[in-house]
This record gives sequence, C-alpha cells and structure tokens, in this order.
Amino acid sequence: MIAERISRIAPSATMKISARAKELRDSGRKIVSLSQGEPDFKTPQHICDAAIEAIKDGHHGYTVNTGNIELRKAICDKLERENGYHFKPNQVVVSNGAKQSIGFSILATIGPGDEVIIPAPYWVSYPEMVKLAEGEPVVVRTEFENDYKLTAAQLEQAITPKTKMLILCSPSNPTGSCYSKAELKELAEVLQKYPDVLILSDEIYEYIVFDGDHVSIGEVAPELMHRIIVINGFSKGFAMTGWRLGYLAAHESIAGAVAKIQSQETSGACSISQKAGEAAYNSGLEEVEKMREAFKQRRDYLVTALNEVPGVSCFSPGGAFYAFPDISSYLGKKTPDGDTIASSTDLCLFLLEEKGLALVPGDAFGEPNGIRLSYAASLDELKQAMEILKSGLAALV
Ligand SMILES: Cc1ncc(COP(=O)(O)O)c(C=O)c1O
Repeated sequence: MIAERISRIAPSATMKISARAKELRDSGRKIVSLSQGEPDFKTPQHICDAAIEAIKDGHHGYTVNTGNIELRKAICDKLERENGYHFKPNQVVVSNGAKQSIGFSILATIGPGDEVIIPAPYWVSYPEMVKLAEGEPVVVRTEFENDYKLTAAQLEQAITPKTKMLILCSPSNPTGSCYSKAELKELAEVLQKYPDVLILSDEIYEYIVFDGDHVSIGEVAPELMHRIIVINGFSKGFAMTGWRLGYLAAHESIAGAVAKIQSQETSGACSISQKAGEAAYNSGLEEVEKMREAFKQRRDYLVTALNEVPGVSCFSPGGAFYAFPDISSYLGKKTPDGDTIASSTDLCLFLLEEKGLALVPGDAFGEPNGIRLSYAASLDELKQAMEILKSGLAALV
C-alpha cells in the first residue's frame, strides 16, 4: 500500500523524543526537556504587529509562488548588507520554512545515484531528504577534537565522480560549531577542483553566534557563488518557528527548478507570515540581539556545568543553541536495574524514562559518542537538567 521510497527513510528522531517527553508529561510525570529545537522566546512585537496589519489590510490571498516581491527584495538587501551575497529577486524562493527550501533544493538537484556529502554530526533531515530524492547520503564522521567540523582533507577524501553536493551547516545543529573564514577557505580550495559539486549552505542559525561574526562560504569564495545554494529563514533568529517562513537563494536555474516543484506541491508560503518576514528584515536587529545575549549566558553556564561532570567533556559551541558533549565514557555501563547502556540512545532513554530528563541521543545525528542538549530553555531549567544529568550518570556503574 505504501510506496517503496518511504521504507528508506526514518521519522525525525528529534521529534520522536519531544513527542515521548510530551506523552510522559501528559500522563502526569514531571519532565525537564532540553530536546527542543526552537527558541523559547516570543516573536518580537513589531513583527507580530506587521502580521496583524497584514490581516487587517486584507493580505488574504495566495501570493506569487516564489514569495511576494517586497519580501524577496528585502531578502536580497539583507543578503547583500549582511553576507556580501549579490542575489536578484528571481534567484530567491520563499518557502514554508527552511526545511522545505532544503528539501526542494535537494529534490531539484539530486537524482538516483548522486552522492551528497554530509558531515556528521548532521541535522537529522539531511540524509533522509537525500534518500527521498533517491540520492546517496555519504556521511563523513568528523572529530570531537576539531569541534566536529569537516576538514579539507576529509572533504577531498569523500569526493568521488558521483559527488553532486556538499551540505554545510554553520552554526551547526546539533553541535553549535561555527566554521571560521580560514576553515571555509580551505574547504573552498578543495571545491574549486570539482566544478560539478554544489554546496548547500544552511545558515539558519546565523543570528545566534557568540564569538565573532557569522561567516558565509560565498563571502570567502565568491568564485563558487554560481553553485552555492544559500538556505536561511526566520525560525531561529527571530523566534518564528511556527510562522513557517524560510528561503533559498541560488543560481537562477536552481531557483527556477525549486519554484517549479513548489508550484506543484504547496504554492507560496503563508501571505501573513511573508508580511511578518518583511518587517523582520526591514526593521533592525535589537530584539534578535537580546535573544542572542540570553543564549550566550546560557551557553556559558551549560558548558561550564557539563565539563564539571566526571567523564563528560564539551567544547564551547560558537553558535546556535545546542551543546553536544562527548559522553562515550558512559557507554557500556549498567543501569541500577542491570541494563547495559550500549548507545547514546539507551542513555537518553534511561534519562527520560527513569529520571525525567529529555535529551536527544547523538545516534540521531550520526555521532554515537554525543548527546545534544538544547539551551533554548531558562537558566533555571538548565540548572534542574544538570542536577538530573549528574545524578543519572552517577547512578550508572
Ligand atoms: C540546521 C537546520 N536547518 C533547517 C531547519 C529548518 O528550519 P525551519 O523552521 O525554517 O523549517 C532547522 C530546524 O530545526 C535546522 O536545525
């Protein structure tokens, strides 16, 4: 009854943990959750006001499939002003969240047998989206010692004649790592040798960086621009996850191909959200800055606290709102009930079911030695979570 391609993909592991945490909570258990992938702030008021105005002004109809021209112009201005990218509105496609932009970009460019290099730990959806397009995810494990960033040598080694795309995510979900200018230049030097390889640059967390400025790969390697697909959106930086608004900017041929798919699958993004997005990009970043500052404080607390736990080590992530410590010293230990913790999934299930703490196992992101803690939660919740984590790990023998 169900198409064969569905058997090749897995449901989102992050959503699975959040759903189980909710189930336990609904049954009356107290659950502290650091599994969420969305800011715990409200969308800034001036953005909400723009949406309310849009409703009052009657922006109720379908928009152009690729997004209102005003929004696409605002996006081009933003990309020029902040990222040094030169795009025209016909190179931008606005979608229902960056997730759709990524999925449709992959569907538009990847076909049977095409290889897509995905550095691990990766955002859970990349490999599954590649599989849906009948491509081959080529997962390249990176090193904890290098803050889980892909090196030029690892990239070079992974490229084959079938390689069609490299996916980069900076700042990263799940590690929070950010590529520096020098690191991106080294990757770009390798990519210059392979003119058929596209680069999908997921910059959805660009406003949440703590140690210096966000760097876009196209900024350091303008000669690659014609094959870079820039992905961005409003969910994370503006706390707008539920508005479902994201976009891609790319060569006209790629934008045109994505537009074709979108015109048949969903049509344009929500008209009210588009007006909100326009306001977000045309009215300064003060509110974004406040949220960034709060995330930075939490990062500093959490990373220090994690490194104080015996057998846990965590580098300080440069961005996003995730910490991804190495917990491998606990793998192979036993729970008080005598069950073996064979994997990061076992560890997270033990912490959730027995201790009421929801975290996401590194297994979900292709890195068995880690766990992801989201600090899109109050300092108070983070402190409670750390107490539970400490006592949970101490219970393992
Ligand atoms: C790395 C990464 N890319 C893209 C997305 C999708 O964002 P959106 O809410 O705009 O669909 C997410 C959301 O979790 C993400 O973590």
